[in-house]
Amino acid sequence: MPIGVRRSLETSYKFMIGSNSEPTAVWTPGPLLGLETSCDETSAAVLNADGAVVSNVISSQHAVHQPFGGVVPELSSRTHIETIEGVASQAMREAGVQWSDLTGLAVTQGPGLAGSLIVGVNYAKALSYALNVPMVGVSHLEGHISSAWLQEPTFPVPCVVLVVSGGHSHLYLMQLDGGCTLLGCTRDDAAGEAFDKGAQMLGLEYPGGPAIDRLAQSGSATAILFPRSYLRKESLDFSFSGLKTALLYKLQQMDQSQRDAQAPDLAAGYQEAIVTVLVDKAFAAVKAYGVAALAVVGGVSANTRLRSLLQRRASTSGIRLSLPPLSYCTDNAAMIAAAGRQALLRGKRAALDMEANACLAVHALTT
Ligand code: KG4
Ligand code: ZN
Repeated sequence: MPIGVRRSLETSYKFMIGSNSEPTAVWTPGPLLGLETSCDETSAAVLNADGAVVSNVISSQHAVHQPFGGVVPELSSRTHIETIEGVASQAMREAGVQWSDLTGLAVTQGPGLAGSLIVGVNYAKALSYALNVPMVGVSHLEGHISSAWLQEPTFPVPCVVLVVSGGHSHLYLMQLDGGCTLLGCTRDDAAGEAFDKGAQMLGLEYPGGPAIDRLAQSGSATAILFPRSYLRKESLDFSFSGLKTALLYKLQQMDQSQRDAQAPDLAAGYQEAIVTVLVDKAFAAVKAYGVAALAVVGGVSANTRLRSLLQRRASTSGIRLSLPPLSYCTDNAAMIAAAGRQALLRGKRAALDMEANACLAVHALTT
């Protein structure tokens, strides 16, 4: 019996359906605007009729949240309100597309922060109504998965996709018929969450992932060893909470001057424990399911050490690897537009009463 088969049977669903609506009309591909406001990036992107990205504008709220050490939901939604019009207009300008040329809209419907999602969803609804163009709601997770094909439209299926973001550490098997099976996921913290919480303990600035990535580059990954959690032998699930506790205990045993002196080694060792488990499990999934391709997507896939380990392992094992460029790793609207385009092509449409759904499960988009 293949690894994770129980979970697979329970959670099998079709990928890239991307809408809560009934299949209806035929969509003739043309310029499409994607919108993303699920967390701390306001983003808008335009795809051309062939699905190529012609603009991808990302306005980060990092400076807004930095003083608080994490995302403040109320500030996030307010900032989206202030920013979305300018970001969308800039994306249209950079793409050289007139509003009247748009043939479709795709917006992140969930999961994410409720107040933030509402801003994008309502903006899309208003545009859809005013311009009389079809709209689809997209799962943020499906957006991340789609980012694997943005730069490499011919990336092969079947393949394994590892989604590693602030909220997810999910391993999927993508099948030829468009089906997508969940092979494993985190039992506690997501990989990005482990980075963010670890960074907070180390006194680094928000967002924690890039801060640990930078600091680790001047440290040794083997000077201070951290536990790697593989769970039971064949499991493709992840667990990062024990690692977080290990960092806490190590910090408690040090005084401030030791913490300062060893901060780069702590960051490098902590990072190594996260990324080696991610790499090992991703390649274990590739082997267990007999596929020859692996895509790694989501904010954590921007991590320097993770990227280099993945590239090394892929080239020694002859596995084709899709690692999106950095602008498609963290939250962006190009990936939402790409997933939305697939939904429109399949005849999906969202009605104007579509609601943002903070807890949207990717499986909810199944048809
Ligand atoms: O995909 P994303 O932008 O948003 C979510 O959907 O959550 O991912 C954000 C996560 C954060 O936890 C952030 O710390 C992490 O991705 N991240 C990184 C790096 N850049 C972003 N983690 C490690 N190394 C990085 N370079
Ligand atoms: Zn994301």
